[in-house]
Amino acid sequence: MQSDLRNRDLIGDLDFSKEEVETVLDVAFDLKRKRALGEPHAYLRDKVLAMLFFFSSTRTRGSFEAGMAQLGGHGAFIESKTTQISHGDTPKEIGEIFGRYFDGIAIRHCDWGVGNGYLNAVAKASRVPVLNMQCDVYHPFQCLADLMTIIEKKGRDLRRKKMVVSWAYAASYQKPLSVPQSLILQMPRFGMDVVLAHPPEFRLMPEVMDQAREQARKFGTGFEVVDDMDTAFKDADVIYAKSWGALVHTADAEEGAKIIKKYEHWITDERKMALGKPDAIYMHPLPADRNIEVTDGVMDGPNSVVYDEAENRLHAQKAVMALTMR
Ligand code: CP
Repeated sequence: MQSDLRNRDLIGDLDFSKEEVETVLDVAFDLKRKRALGEPHAYLRDKVLAMLFFFSSTRTRGSFEAGMAQLGGHGAFIESKTTQISHGDTPKEIGEIFGRYFDGIAIRHCDWGVGNGYLNAVAKASRVPVLNMQCDVYHPFQCLADLMTIIEKKGRDLRRKKMVVSWAYAASYQKPLSVPQSLILQMPRFGMDVVLAHPPEFRLMPEVMDQAREQARKFGTGFEVVDDMDTAFKDADVIYAKSWGALVHTADAEEGAKIIKKYEHWITDERKMALGKPDAIYMHPLPADRNIEVTDGVMDGPNSVVYDEAENRLHAQKAVMALTMR
């Protein structure tokens, strides 16, 4: 167990070593048990987290805010548009000034090519931990909750379990690449054989792919890329299928939207789920486009773990906050 995570940032999934992630998981399971038993766990009494949002949220806002209250502190919800950021407050001002008011700065900034740089610039100027509530490159807290959920359903020894990270059709908007990128970076460290499936235009960032291959090599796991859902889903233990944008292929939103329309058949339905192992779990970070990205039958079916997965955001985030902000 790595017991000193005080004042550490969590911006990219590999910022914490495997051992440090194991510590986070241990604490998260303990906090989940404490909440189930109604045991007090006010480890962050009088501490305040700034929660700065440049983009909308249901789960992330709710779970960080509830989590801070349950830890005895407070989460201050701040929308970027209600600040002076558009009138000149730079990331340096935010890091310097919020770092003096607050005990942690959590930020969601998903703008392609901007978000991750923004978080790192705030972190450089901040004396308190900066926590990534999702940027254009990573969604590390979602990934920690996903890992916690997989361990609950499949056990702590995940070696040789097949995890599919698949693109899925959704026309609502070009969603960030952060969820699949975090998954392919983190899961090999815990022994899972990852199969990434996407149509050709939905490649992930080349530098993230290189890092994911490196993690798979280092931890002796499989890492494969395929271009159809059926091949990917065969004999899978974990099926994680969600939409993301053609952002590496084109920066043009109109062209991206046109490309997405070619792949309406990339929906997770009962036939495709049946290609996986009988006890395969279906995962999605939500929100999902029901009956477009995934059928109601799968989302609400016996293999779906999406609500446990959403719940685990709370416990995983509380663990990181308690460890870094105390
Ligand atoms: N999964 C997730 O991050 O949900 P929100 O966008 O609602 O926060």
